Amino acid sequence: MDADRELLDRAEAVAARAYAPYSQFRVGCVVRTRDGRVFEGVNVENAAYPLGICAEKTALGTAASAGVRPGEVEVLAVNASPCGGCRQWFHEFGIERIVYRRADGGVAVATPDDLLPDTFVL
Ligand code: THU
Repeated sequence: MDADRELLDRAEAVAARAYAPYSQFRVGCVVRTRDGRVFEGVNVENAAYPLGICAEKTALGTAASAGVRPGEVEVLAVNASPCGGCRQWFHEFGIERIVYRRADGGVAVATPDDLLPDTFVL
């Protein structure tokens, strides 16, 4: 879908604003809700390495702070293959589809179930 590719292009542009002084691995994420609201996020690292936060969590946290709730996000675009923890977040927010740049340079479109099957449910 052209709109999804445009969102991935935007995520790749947003990645330029990542705060990644330790890994130099810049990640950008853009989420779009079903009613057209758009939120951005970047990875934000910390000298205490485990305290860093992924771009997807930044974007979803920004969306949640604006009142977005599970089921309202239609698509999330990110310029990297999402980590396992972020995949669990995609389930939490019931995201319809995730568009991401694979390590081999290709573009993939997947559902949360594709990315993390048989997930934890509380
Ligand atoms: N990173 C993300 O932002 N999202 C992912 O899904 C994978 C990893 C970030 C975390 C860290 O700042 C850097 O990439 C290297 O692991």
